[in-house]
Amino acid sequence: MAQERTPQPKIVQFEGLGPGFWPVTIFLFAVSVALALYWCFGNIDWLMPGWEHPLTDRTADIDDLVKFMSVFASAIMVFVTGYVVYFVIAFRARPGQSADTIGVPVHDSPKLEFWWTILPSALLAVLSAWSIVVWYKIYFGTSAPALTAEVVAHQFYFEVRYPGLKTGVATNSEPMHLPVGVPIRLLVTSADVIHQFWVPEIRLKTAGVPGLVQNLNFTADHTGTYDITCTEFCGAGHSVMQGKIVFDQVPAFNTWLNDKKKSEAAAAAPINLASGDKAAGQALFAQKCSACHNNPPTPFDQKLVGPGLLHITDDPAHPNLVTGKPPTPQNIAWILQNGFTGSIGTMPNRQANGLSDTDIANLVAYLTSLK
Ligand code: CUA
Repeated sequence: MAQERTPQPKIVQFEGLGPGFWPVTIFLFAVSVALALYWCFGNIDWLMPGWEHPLTDRTADIDDLVKFMSVFASAIMVFVTGYVVYFVIAFRARPGQSADTIGVPVHDSPKLEFWWTILPSALLAVLSAWSIVVWYKIYFGTSAPALTAEVVAHQFYFEVRYPGLKTGVATNSEPMHLPVGVPIRLLVTSADVIHQFWVPEIRLKTAGVPGLVQNLNFTADHTGTYDITCTEFCGAGHSVMQGKIVFDQVPAFNTWLNDKKKSEAAAAAPINLASGDKAAGQALFAQKCSACHNNPPTPFDQKLVGPGLLHITDDPAHPNLVTGKPPTPQNIAWILQNGFTGSIGTMPNRQANGLSDTDIANLVAYLTSLK
């Protein structure tokens, strides 16, 4: 009985690694060296702004790590794509070869397999060890902090709490300040959803996670004003969750902090509500409040983000404010000053909303007139 045979593909034997393999290898090596020199000594301001004068001690660590990674990543990219292109050209189909022609099947090359396992492993081991050392310095600090500030992320601003200040600095309405030349510790967390605190110029970044406090330790070297941005999608206002950070010399920082303490003491004083102007309050309501409260004001249960504020002093459907007694103008002023957190939502305080004493008196005059 005649046996059926599966047709075998024709195998073409090539000479070694192909014509021009070693010149191509030398060329790829030269390109890799040129890129490595660029990463180490070139102007990489487009990628890492301020790389020439790192803003903090940890910035320099991160930059070195990024340069190390870039040197090897660009070499790997050059060799992998370079050889792919070279082999595609060197072992292309030639005229006269049938369609089922293939190259030499290669199985097992212990020497190659040894090196392509050892080299990437060694590279990753170095990268891991180096990263852990840098991370350790960022997370635990290299010396006891001279200033510890708390960064609490909110939808959609960062609140920075300083020692001796009762209310935090809200980065959507004013810049946060830090002194240069002394060790700083930032304790980062969140009051609502997951955010990400990032100052690109100092490279340092950490997630603000509800219920978790994470550290950033560093010493800044240069004064200046830089951007803060949230880099974790956290809701409709994520794209506007930005602010400024100002690095001051220590005396300037102390002056700023003392001024904050003084204005806080002044702000805590009771506000004279008698001078409130209803019309000015109405204009201000449209400007500052209408993002979260219906304008014109609606009954309490018609929510936008916050409740409707019509009949604020005599609406029986107002469960949190009306605790048996109708709220007084002072109650309303207190919420405008201090903000509110409860089952019906969260309202930022006067600092976050940028409200002066006069603004609060005007808003109270307007809201209490809605009966
Ligand atoms: Cu906060 Cu995005």
